[in-house]
Amino acid sequence: MQRLRRMRRTPALRALAAETAVRREGLIYPVFVEWGTGKKEEVPSMPGVYRYSVDRLAEIADRVAESGIGGVMLFGIPECKDEAGSGAYDADSVVPQAIRYLKEYFRARGRDIVVIADICLCEYTSHGHCGVLTAEGVDNDASLPLHAMSALAAVRAGADMVAPSSMMDGVVEAIRAALDAEGYTHVPIMAYSAKFASAFYGPFRDAADSAPQTGDRKGYQMDFRNGREALRELAADEEEGADILMVKPALAYLDVVRAARERTELPLAVYNVSGEYAMVKAAAAAGMIDEGRIVEEILTAFFRAGADMVITYHALDWAERGGKA
Ligand code: PBG
Repeated sequence: MQRLRRMRRTPALRALAAETAVRREGLIYPVFVEWGTGKKEEVPSMPGVYRYSVDRLAEIADRVAESGIGGVMLFGIPECKDEAGSGAYDADSVVPQAIRYLKEYFRARGRDIVVIADICLCEYTSHGHCGVLTAEGVDNDASLPLHAMSALAAVRAGADMVAPSSMMDGVVEAIRAALDAEGYTHVPIMAYSAKFASAFYGPFRDAADSAPQTGDRKGYQMDFRNGREALRELAADEEEGADILMVKPALAYLDVVRAARERTELPLAVYNVSGEYAMVKAAAAAGMIDEGRIVEEILTAFFRAGADMVITYHALDWAERGGKA
């Protein structure tokens, strides 16, 4: 008989033999920044997640600085949206303002927390699509310069990293070229490489007012039936010069994470998205599950599957609970 239970007998033996742990510094917390002043509004479908105006960010910045997590990722809600998504590349729009604020806030406290700017147009376009909309759909090549301008606006404001999430072909290369041309050769790109068209983004679209006004994103985000194609997306971004590859969503896509881990030597991120968070919070609020234990198990699974970093709305709560159930 194989006595596999021997090493499970006591907590000390189990701790000694544990293969995986959630790495605190590998967690990234998404932050929604809204135009205006004096705002802190809870996202209805995401209990515990708020949209902050820049002047109210101190509260969240403090929690982030105390928590020991590795980074934040910023999303903007601009005052007005237009066809071309100009709020995405305006040097004074919400995200560049928030970047300047946060970098200064952390610096003044002797902390160096990685500030990542999500780069996409959907929060800024009146039609809610992730690029330039034409009668034929989203025009890939016409959208690239706008993404490059958006990345430049974020990096000029002090972003440590940019993360293009539009699933436009060639967007990593376009951003790399634009950053290099301005001397930002040192700024890494985290590519949302295998981003699936997913119902799990529902609550985020409430949070960012970014639901497409017509149609859906299936013409540019991936078909969730495809695993091999995901590997082609990852390989393409690696070739275009990405520094970190991402799989998104996370829970229903850990097969892709594992396959990616076996194919690339690049750091790998997973995005534990809004719908995944909302399901946990709703079940916990209904008394159906133990939130702390469920979150510990979920986050551990991401690292066990091969992720090096996890973008998650649970990051602060997890860290503040002492990083354990
Ligand atoms: C922007 C973007 C989205 C998310 C991250 N960046 C929304 C989308 O593609 O519709 C989703 C994040 C989440 O659900 O938590 N393109």
